[in-house]
Amino acid sequence: MHQDGASPLKGKEMQEPRCLDGAWMQVNEEGKIHAIGTGEAPVLPGEDQFNMEGSWVFPAFCDSHTHLVFPEWRPEEFLYKIRGMSYAEIAQKGGGILNSAQKMEMAEEGHLFAAALRRCHECMAFGTGALEIKSGYGLSLESELKMLRVIARLKESLPIPVKATLLGAHALPPKYKERREDFIDMIVHRLIPAAAADGLADYVDVFCDTGFFTPEETERILEAGARFGLRGKIHANELGNTGGIQAGVAHQALSVDHLEHTGPEEIQSLLNSNTIPTLLPGTAFFLKMDYPPARTMVNAGLPVCLATDYNPGSCPSGNPWFIWSLASIYMGLEPEEALSALSLNGAHAMELQHSHGSLWPGKVGSFISVEPMETLAMVPYRFGSGLNYRVFIQGKEYNP
Ligand code: NIG
Ligand code: FE
Repeated sequence: MHQDGASPLKGKEMQEPRCLDGAWMQVNEEGKIHAIGTGEAPVLPGEDQFNMEGSWVFPAFCDSHTHLVFPEWRPEEFLYKIRGMSYAEIAQKGGGILNSAQKMEMAEEGHLFAAALRRCHECMAFGTGALEIKSGYGLSLESELKMLRVIARLKESLPIPVKATLLGAHALPPKYKERREDFIDMIVHRLIPAAAADGLADYVDVFCDTGFFTPEETERILEAGARFGLRGKIHANELGNTGGIQAGVAHQALSVDHLEHTGPEEIQSLLNSNTIPTLLPGTAFFLKMDYPPARTMVNAGLPVCLATDYNPGSCPSGNPWFIWSLASIYMGLEPEEALSALSLNGAHAMELQHSHGSLWPGKVGSFISVEPMETLAMVPYRFGSGLNYRVFIQGKEYNP
């Protein structure tokens, strides 16, 4: 088992088993791990002790990429999709991000909060013990700040850490069609400073891709974020190979996410950086796209991270167990590699590696215990079929 988790697990390190077969754990009053091991458990007074003989235990999932604050689901677009329309065609018909943005303008903050809180609890019931949530359905100063305030309320209300990412440039609003520079100016000169002044953002994001924002526009936003101490976590190379990965790396982004279109040059650029490549196979599945080359990335020695992308348009699921199966079945990751990508590397992609992502004394006692299994491969193998598991958040069993 990896000990302190100070660096993300890279290449071969991702195969190190990150789970215990038959463990005991002692969690103190603050919900932190006092001691952990296998074999005979010492008895210490005053600590909550868990004996999970026969069960498998691993760290709670760290989901570093979600868009779970949104006004409404978009089932009508799903019907267009199953009748053959592409994501781009649906967007051109006024669907997609612009559809959610229109509803966001009207949405009442209390309603947004209540719906998002339910989605966070749904994630926790799956075993997620830390979450990142993006804005991005605002597309205006007022609506973006409203979304960020909702995320701030979620931070206060949940027993798990939540990181807020300001995704100002998610799509170009129609009224800026002829003056896209003004939209970037609004983000750089008004939105980022306003959010930073109220402590509403931890990171900045840009949808740097074909038909959305260019690497130059992305760099302006990353530079503006950096002036306020906000690192980048950007959407890149989902729809085309447009230089987003290199733009993120050049500006020390914490992560670059999606990466369906990644070639040797992009891999080389990531190898010379501290930027974490984050893959979202739920989106490739739902949009019927090619999967990112995870196997090649791990073989090259990269610290691959996995997340859900939970959102109403391209991945309407926050289920990390399904992501685990997709990563194994379609991207060739070994069960242990996928677990590393969903736990410690996810914690790194939210800068929570000192408290989350692995089970170690001093870290938070958030973990999942799974029914006895022959091998960890049972998890991705039995996709969607409900292995019995229990979720513990800071040492307390989570019962939705
Ligand atoms: O991560 N790629 C950009 N944005 C989201 C989709 C958002 C939506 O369609 O609502 C994503 O896939
Ligand atoms: Fe996303």
